[in-house]
Amino acid sequence: MIKEEIKNLVRQACLKLGFPVEEIVLEHPENVEHGDYSTNVALVLAKQLGKKPREVAENIAKTINYKLRTVNSIEKVEVAGPGFINFFLSKEYFFDVLSSILKKKGKYGAGSEKKKIIVEYSSPNIAKPFGIGHLRSTLIGQAIYNLYTFLGYKTIGINYPGDWGTPHGKILYQLKEKLLKGKTEKEKKEILDKITVQDLESLYVAFHQNTTLQMEEGARLWFKKLEQKDTEARSLWEKMREVSFREFERIYSLLNVKIDHVIGESFFEDKMEVVVEDFKKKGLAQESQGALIVSFPNEILPPAMLLKSDGATTYFTRDLANMEYRISKWKPDAIVIETGVEQTLHFQQVFLASKLIGYAKDEELVHAFHGLYRTKEGKFSTRKGQTIHLEDVLREAIKKAHEIIEQSETVRGLSEQEKAEVAKAVGIGGIKYNDLSQHPSGDIVFDWGKILNLKGNSAPYLQYTYARCKSILRKSKLNPIKFKLNGVKSSPEEMALLRLLYRFEEVVQEAAEKFSPNLVCNFVFDLAQRYNLFYNTNPVLKAETKELKDFRLLLTAAVAQIIKNGLSLLGIAAPERM
Ligand code: ARG
Repeated sequence: MIKEEIKNLVRQACLKLGFPVEEIVLEHPENVEHGDYSTNVALVLAKQLGKKPREVAENIAKTINYKLRTVNSIEKVEVAGPGFINFFLSKEYFFDVLSSILKKKGKYGAGSEKKKIIVEYSSPNIAKPFGIGHLRSTLIGQAIYNLYTFLGYKTIGINYPGDWGTPHGKILYQLKEKLLKGKTEKEKKEILDKITVQDLESLYVAFHQNTTLQMEEGARLWFKKLEQKDTEARSLWEKMREVSFREFERIYSLLNVKIDHVIGESFFEDKMEVVVEDFKKKGLAQESQGALIVSFPNEILPPAMLLKSDGATTYFTRDLANMEYRISKWKPDAIVIETGVEQTLHFQQVFLASKLIGYAKDEELVHAFHGLYRTKEGKFSTRKGQTIHLEDVLREAIKKAHEIIEQSETVRGLSEQEKAEVAKAVGIGGIKYNDLSQHPSGDIVFDWGKILNLKGNSAPYLQYTYARCKSILRKSKLNPIKFKLNGVKSSPEEMALLRLLYRFEEVVQEAAEKFSPNLVCNFVFDLAQRYNLFYNTNPVLKAETKELKDFRLLLTAAVAQIIKNGLSLLGIAAPERM
């Protein structure tokens, strides 16, 4: 990558000059007059060496400039201001990037990192509608997964649904004592065949509305039965799972999301005893008011519960079994778990406890978290305070997108089926982009006007720009091989595109490192804006000369490819026409 190349040049120059080698930070200057990269390393060094910053900068720049006689990618190095060193990339380099984009196509920007990473995301809870929070985890997690896969990592995607734990005892109790009580076998079957996740959630909510001691006891009993593999408890619980997964699958299919493995909490049912034993054996578990807890050295974190006073295991216990399983089975270099921000403490405890017990060693353990969804009015929920029904929201998005594209002229030639596909790409893409384009940890606002705004920072805007590029390219033949760069003078709008395209690689890298797909969104948006600016002032098909037309077509093709690559990392489709 060019960034690394420049860092190396600076490092070598420092070595040659006998300067200590500092960490070199490179930035893209705001003002094009300051070049494509800039570093303040001379300012840092000057302080250490007790020299004048400008002088240090001049020395470094001179050393590098000497070297540049054999480097084609950089045109010149200049010193500016109090001692900044600015790098100007060469046109030759920009053209190399163009041809590389067109050659590598979908693989442009991809890496060859050999490490292994587990990305856990989505992880909805059964017996509840798929909530908006799990939508965020699904979208952000999938984008993180895509980014790492693109960089060459061996990625393992895991969906860890919440399908175990004491709440399920409560629902079983409600099912048995409320819904199915006194019914014949035939009636029971009918009820269960028709039951939905909403029904299950209502039963759970009703349980909490006026709970008696007897109900509490009943719920505990039913969870015990479930644990002891009682046939009836098991079959009812299976039913709950089945109904829930059916809904989850519908949502995943609307979102075009496929997760490699589904390994839910219940998978760890028989793996927690060992965990409890391990902690006891190592003296890491203490009895506390009948419960079994793990305390952390110097109380850096509050204690976490391994067993409740009634002997039941917890979410924490399951996650420890989970960590042990993932690490011993896959031997990953890193594990990333994407959930809501409210689980931060939980994961701090899980990660630290996993290290204390030795399940985890040098693996990088990351909790990537997201903020809340809000509407313009406030909290994202129905009047009754229930979670919004996501499937309806997604279908609504597709419907609205359909209405929008019906009004567009360019879709006129499309068949009904093609239009339906575009509507899905735009509607679902809009929802995804609205989420991914904002920093994951912040709260985000759900506003239809913004999500489907063809003129704003939205998926439809990017998709539209892509389709526009494609339409231009359809009208003329592009022959990149014959293209010569001799004599092409570039306009500022053309230069602005060239000076952006090469950064894609860098952005992908940074987005992965920081678990921030929003960086990819920002980049693609910036690119699309610059393209539209270019397009408005630089005629492509009607360019003054043949060379110029070829060059602009080339630029158009490269921009289209990068928009497509970026959107694909975000899990957003790019229709050829819209
Ligand atoms: N099912 C959980 C919830 O909805 C999220 C699971 C997160 N992952 C984990 N390993 N605990 O709150």
